[in-house]
Amino acid sequence: MPVENDLLVGDAARADVLERSLWAVAEVDRDITPIFFDRLFAHYPEQRRSLHYADSTCGAMVNEMIETLMGLATGEDWLERWTQNPGMAHRCYGDIGLPLYADSIDMLINTLARVAGHGWSKAFDAAWLEHGAALKGILARVY
Ligand code: HEM
Repeated sequence: MPVENDLLVGDAARADVLERSLWAVAEVDRDITPIFFDRLFAHYPEQRRSLHYADSTCGAMVNEMIETLMGLATGEDWLERWTQNPGMAHRCYGDIGLPLYADSIDMLINTLARVAGHGWSKAFDAAWLEHGAALKGILARVY
């Protein structure tokens, strides 16, 4: 029982750190989607032509990446099954290898940090990187 309580408190605290970091990003009032995708395309220019409906899909993708990482912090049990979806749904989008998924997670975290600027903290970085590593682990298992 105490262990369970500790875990629950820990999860809530971690989710709280992530949420506060998103407020730091929101305060800057900039759309992170084009910043993330500019970075992605700078490293993987060949992916640019895969996005046929960028106006509607890019924002949805960034949102879903953030929601997934937040879901890991709150211990959502649907995540392991859910993370099979990007792989399945994305197969028809072309050759998206595991390293590209991993890099995209790092680029997303880096985008949040850069946009938040002085509002970002080491605690924010540590929390996102921890969950980023967890998501990479899940994707590697289901890929
Ligand atoms: C955890 C990682 C990812 C998540 C959660 C995610 C999520 C999404 C979502 C929600 C969409 C919107 C349409 C749909 O449901 O299929 C989408 C579209 C798409 N994603 Fe991802 N994605 C991820 C990683 C990636 C990576 C690394 C690439 C490689 C560049 C990629 C390429 C695409 C493409 C090409 C589309 C279709 C865009 C279009 O047709 O305009 N995704 N993704």
